[in-house]
Amino acid sequence: MIKAIYPGSFDPITFGHIDIIERSSKIFDEVIIGVLNNKEKTPLFSAVERVEIIKEAISHINNVEVAAFEGLLVDFAKAQNASIIVRGLRAITDFEYELQMSQTNHIISKDIDTVFFTTSLEYAYLSSSTVKEVAMFGGDISKFVPPFIIGKIYNKFKK
Ligand code: PNS
Repeated sequence: MIKAIYPGSFDPITFGHIDIIERSSKIFDEVIIGVLNNKEKTPLFSAVERVEIIKEAISHINNVEVAAFEGLLVDFAKAQNASIIVRGLRAITDFEYELQMSQTNHIISKDIDTVFFTTSLEYAYLSSSTVKEVAMFGGDISKFVPPFIIGKIYNKFKK
């Protein structure tokens, strides 16, 4: 039984994240999506909102759960009995940060390894920050996020 954690900010979840979740759920027995609740940042969506949105976005996949976490990722992984961290790699610009993070996590906790998925080509450009920037100026975000999330994002910018 191999349990994996797919951690991130998911502010908001995009089609790129969903693609990684679908693909990793076919490889691992169980995937826990770990939503970082970073008290030092002010996200667009609260951790509770992000968890709810993600649950709806992945409701078609059986072996995936969602939970918020604070503190160190490796501690969350251990608490969940997970030995694998899943991350997506878009471009070479992601590589340096991801390499450093995976090596740090492995040094802190040698039983935990990171597995990278290369992002599908159609989502290689996509990030949560891009979604927020386009939405902030009233642009079309229908190619970036599932339809039920679109109104929620625009509403945040109306406030
Ligand atoms: O979606 P993101 O913002 O790229 O995800 C980053 C995340 C949540 C994976 C990373 O910031 C994280 O693991 N934070 C928890 C704190 C931690 O464990 N830091 C040590 C690893 S360098």
